[in-house]
Parts: sequence; C-alpha cells; structure tokens
Amino acid sequence: MIRQPFAVLSADEAASLIQDGQTIGFSGFTPAGSAKAIPAALAARAKKEHRAGRPFKVGVLTGASTGPSLDGALAEAEAISYRTPYQSDSTLRKQINAGQVKFVDAHLSMVQQMVRYGFLGPVNWAVVEASDLTPGGGIVLSTSVGASNTYLRLADRILIELNARHPVSLLGMHDIFEPGDPPARQEIPIYQPSDRIGSPICIVDPKKIAGVVLTDLADETQGFDRTTAVTDRIGQHIADFLVAEMRAGRVPADFLPLQSGVGNVANSVLAALGSSPDVPSFEMYTEVLQDSVVPLLENGRCRFASTCALALSPAMMTHVAGNIGFFNRRIVLRPQEISNHPEVVRRLGVISMNTAIEVDLSGNVNSTHLFGKTLMNGIGGSGDFTRNAYLSIFSCPSTVRDGAISSIVPLASHMDHSEHSVQVVITEQGIADLRGKDPSDRARLIIDHCAHPDFRAQLREYLDLTAEGHAPLSLSLGLAMHRQFLRHGDMRGIDWEEYR
Ligand code: COA
Repeated sequence: MIRQPFAVLSADEAASLIQDGQTIGFSGFTPAGSAKAIPAALAARAKKEHRAGRPFKVGVLTGASTGPSLDGALAEAEAISYRTPYQSDSTLRKQINAGQVKFVDAHLSMVQQMVRYGFLGPVNWAVVEASDLTPGGGIVLSTSVGASNTYLRLADRILIELNARHPVSLLGMHDIFEPGDPPARQEIPIYQPSDRIGSPICIVDPKKIAGVVLTDLADETQGFDRTTAVTDRIGQHIADFLVAEMRAGRVPADFLPLQSGVGNVANSVLAALGSSPDVPSFEMYTEVLQDSVVPLLENGRCRFASTCALALSPAMMTHVAGNIGFFNRRIVLRPQEISNHPEVVRRLGVISMNTAIEVDLSGNVNSTHLFGKTLMNGIGGSGDFTRNAYLSIFSCPSTVRDGAISSIVPLASHMDHSEHSVQVVITEQGIADLRGKDPSDRARLIIDHCAHPDFRAQLREYLDLTAEGHAPLSLSLGLAMHRQFLRHGDMRGIDWEEYR
C-alpha cells in the first residue's frame, strides 16, 4: 500500500458523517467486496438515534445482495428506507414483505445507467471497499466491482474501507469501463470474454474522499449446501442437453461462453458441466463466480471467467488469494453493467443457465415471488442474460416442500421471464426443449418431461379444460393449484371443480 494522504477514521467516525435521509451507494455484489465496517457502525448509530427518539433511515443502493454487516445489520437496526436492486437477507426480506422497506427489484445491468440518468435521485455517499488506494485518488476495488465505479464518480462524497484482508495484488483483475450515455453511447468493444477494455483502477477526485477506514475483514460469503441427488440430476441433464446441441451442430464444437445463476442448483450445475467428459473446456461470461468454478479454472476445464464478483466461500477465497498470480490471468472483474450487458451477451452467444421458483405451462418463469406475493431475493441478472442469450435455460427441482408444491404450475403467480425469452426448461425429471414450439406443444412437453409424476395427471386435466384458444389459460383456474396449497397445504389431488 502506498502512503495515502486521506484522513484515517474509525468506522464510527465515518458513520457519523452520514445524515438521516441520505442515499448511499455501497460496494458489494453478493457479500463479495461489500462494505462491512461502516454499514455496521451506521446500524449502531441508527439504533442510538432511534433510542433518543430521532428518525434515522437511509436509502441503500448496491451492486446486488450483500452480507450480514450491510443488509443484515442495517435491516436489524430498522435503518433502511429504500433498497435497490437485489437482496438476499432474511431480516430485510421480512421487512420488505411487511411493507416496511420500499424495495425496487431491478435488472442489475440497468442500475448504473439508472443512477447516471438521474432516475434514482442523487447519491450522497459512495461507501466502497478497496484493496489498495493511491494518493491521487486511484482505487483498487476488492472482490467485486458491482456498481462501485458509478457510485464513486457520481456521489457527492466518498468513504473508503481499505481492507487488508484482500491482497493488493488484486490490482489487474478489475476492468473498469463506463459507457457514454445516449445519444452518444458507442459499442461495448468486448468480442471475447477475456477482452479488457478499461482501467484496472477507479480514479476519483481525491477531494471527494472524506476519509478512509482501515479494516481486516473476510467477505461474509456463505458456502453452499452439499449437492443432492436432485441437483446432480439437473446438472447432468443440462450437461447432456448441451452436448447433444453441440453434436447436432447447433452449438459450436469449441462451445460458447456460459453464464450460471446463483444458489445451490447453479453451483451443482457448474460442477456437473465441469466433470462431464463430453463437455469441452469452456469460458464463462457471467456475473457471479461461485466456488465450483475455481477447481475448473485450475484443471483447465474453464479456460477463462469474466464476472462481476468473486462470490467465494472464505476458504476458497483464501485459496485464490494465495495463488493470485494464476487467477489474475484467468479472471476479469467487470462492472455489472458490462458483465451483464445485453449487447455483449447477445454478441458472444452466451448460454444462460438460471434457476426458477416456478415455471408455467406456457414457459413463463417466476424467479422472485413465492405465491406471487412474497419476495424471495429479486430478479438479479437473470433477465439480463435470459432475454439476450444464445440459448436460455431455466432449471429447478420439479417439487419443493417435500413434494407438496409443484414447481410446474398452470400459470406462474408472478412473471419475471416471459415465454418469449425462455427456451429450455430442465428439472430432475427431464428436459423440455421449447424452441419453435407452439403453446399447446410447449405445455405438453413441460408436463411430460419436467413435471413430477405426482402432478402430471392433474396438469393434463387442466390442459383439457383450457383446450380452446391459442394459450392454455383459464382465468378462473390458472392459480387454482396455488390456492389449493394455501387452503389444504398440498397442491396434489386438486379437484378443479372446487375452484371454478
Ligand atoms: N413455491 C414456493 N416456494 C418455493 C418454490 C415454489 N415453487 N420454489 C422454491 N421455493 C422456496 C424453497 O422452498 C426455499 O425456501 P426456504 O428458504 O424457506 O427453504 C426458497 O424458495 C429457495 O429455494 P432453494 O431451493 O434454496 O433455491 P436456490 O438456492 O437454488 O435459489 C432462487 C433459487 C430462484 C431463489 C435463486 O436462484 C434466485 O434468487 N434467483 C433469482 C436471481 C437470479 O437468478 N440471479 C442469477 C443471475 S446471474
């Protein structure tokens, strides 16, 4: 670290500069690279203000989800008034679903331009974690980029958490590029996942830096559940499908870049692809790099990964930090508007693989809201990739909650990805290839190949009841399986007459 001329503050001193009602753009895309010390101190301050009878809440903008010290601590202190674009914290989720926090679920690729266009109002503070800092205002970000470069450029003032836990040799892994705004925007010149088009550091006006907090804190990323027979089968189906596409000449023999979503299913899918002898080595153009990719980079199965965040468990991050020379040549960290950019995703021919909560008989996908009402996490980058992918795949287990809920439903109770964008649906039961199929063929394929056997007969009954018209829809029965679960605790054994 170069000696830097900025005021060194305690986290409490930094937090004391932030006022009630202000908007903060935090670093963090998953817990990777999230600010930690300042939001935790801000939460303590909010509690103190509340005890003194004074209001204290802030608007929180980030890259995506964050960790317990940011979303968790601020939510627990009831200090968040507004939140966008994505979250995955259980306390915050409860407050959002109780209407206590205003949450805007947004495509991740659009956050930075929405801030630039002024759609989200002014950003008072950028609070950003760095792995290194130069006296002239050069900031080496840490384990994610997220939207930090835009927050740093546009915020009135800046607070930096300089985190000694991250190696300064992360310098070189980031590629900071911010496109111009319309009508002057030009192409994003990425022609392959490893292309670098920007700067390894963010450069800010040093006068905006109000202070630096020195920390030594690990990212708060959780590990993953062990794979299960169901997630293994989903992974194997995806691998088999892609190999068959390659053999049929619809995917080039040297393969196309892969994007893989978040969560346990996504982690298992990548592990399955990596170990399949028939899948050639591949590159990734994705937004989160989870644990399963690290061994694939090491054994050459994954040749290169372009991502927005190193969303690695602490043990895996230590491993990467210890071999940073190797990984710096194989990973690039980009701002989320570039890692998820529709233009680049379409140009590179990315194969997208995301997880659904439920899929309906038309192929519409709900990724975000349980029973159409309760927010789970948010759309994240799944829409950025799905809408623009060469091949868009959604997977999920065919049932959840011990078989009482079918993930294949007549009508999605919330819709994030429409039938026009969803090409392939995969559960542990099998593969429904919906490309070029009309609504009634799509519905039959989804039931026959993806629904759990316990639900196939009743889903076919629904199809028979909705045979007229172009789409398999009954306005009265579309959500009857959801209503059946809410009434009887089980979607199985529906009597359609009860819901007419
Ligand atoms: N009905 C009701 N609940 C359902 C359900 C359904 N059809 N499907 C899943 N759930 C519940 C599960 O029971 C679980 O609840 P619990 O936490 O109380 O146990 C929860 O939803 C999450 O399911 P889980 O099996 O843990 O899924 P996951 O870890 O694979 O995550 C998503 C799945 C969809 C929640 C996650 O992938 C996500 O948030 N996706 C949206 C964002 C995204 O795709 N980003 C990637 C872009 S790169």
